[in-house]
Amino acid sequence: MNNILITGATGNVGFEVIRFLTKIDSSNRIVAGVRNIEKAKNVFKDYPDLAYTHFDFEDFDTFDSALKGIDKIFLLRPPPISDIDKYFKPLISKIKEKNITQIVFLSVQGAEKSKVIPHNKIERLISENGLDFIFLRPSYFMQNLTTTLIEDIQTKREIILPSGNAKFNWIDIENIGEAGAILLDKFGDYKNQAIEITGLENENFETVTELINSLIDNPIKYRNVNPLKFFRIKKREGMVKGMIIVMILLHFLPRFQKEPRISDFYERLTGKKPTDLKTFIEREKESIDKQ
Ligand SMILES: NC(=O)c1ccc[n+]([C@@H]2O[C@H](COP(=O)([O-])OP(=O)(O)OC[C@H]3O[C@@H](n4cnc5c(N)ncnc54)[C@H](OP(=O)(O)O)[C@@H]3O)[C@@H](O)[C@H]2O)c1
Repeated sequence: MNNILITGATGNVGFEVIRFLTKIDSSNRIVAGVRNIEKAKNVFKDYPDLAYTHFDFEDFDTFDSALKGIDKIFLLRPPPISDIDKYFKPLISKIKEKNITQIVFLSVQGAEKSKVIPHNKIERLISENGLDFIFLRPSYFMQNLTTTLIEDIQTKREIILPSGNAKFNWIDIENIGEAGAILLDKFGDYKNQAIEITGLENENFETVTELINSLIDNPIKYRNVNPLKFFRIKKREGMVKGMIIVMILLHFLPRFQKEPRISDFYERLTGKKPTDLKTFIEREKESIDKQ
């Protein structure tokens, strides 16, 4: 039996990893590493076999007991954590000290290209410490439409971003979670690989907005703004500065980059096509249409 610790368990991807891991017919014991166990128990009320441990990236005192007896880790970087040296260096050292060598790290497509992005730093920390890893590098989450962008969509009927005509590759988090679960279970087959996982469509926000409008009743608009204007709008709305900067980097920089590569990894792994945008929008129609 393998004890598998899932960090970010209550978040978008962590939840899906757990959902798919519980479907795999093997003797894994799944442990959700969470800041608030009571809150997590509520999120996972349909998962009676899930175990919980108190784990906080920002509280080093939680590392020792959370990692005790763990064989494999699904590791992610929560979006608010950007000081990698401060939080991930001690964590990776502790993981090494505990002889846990199997880490599936949720990275990002293109992480290898820039030494300054947090995911790149974490990947290097893991490999430089001699731990076995799988770096799972997904493209742009379809669920950004139903999480970070949903407030503008529902209240202003707009997607406001500094993205111009930049094309993003759109992936469904369910596909990432499913892949993450299989990679944790069959770690040895994929170890020490960096794997890009993408959907099949590279589309800009104008095209995605048109697609959304063809499927919902209350139309939305795409408003392209320059980064400074975006910063001012979001600051006025109360978004924290670090988050605005992450939003700008994520949405503005692709204007100067090549179109994302499309990977067939998900299909090779599962024998299925990844979710397409039309299917995703139809699935999330109620939330996107709500005003
Ligand atoms: N958005 C994209 O298009 C995209 C694309 C590629 C890669 N990524 C990467 O994906 C990652 C985010 O994944 P996600 O969307 O699943 O994240 P998410 O939904 O924002 O979830 C974050 C998770 O981390 C937990 N968390 C936050 N701070 C914590 C702390 N101090 N200690 C312990 N747990 C903590 C949260 O738990 P609580 O319930 O306690 O808050 C939550 O479970 C990021 O690294 C991002 O860069 C994103």
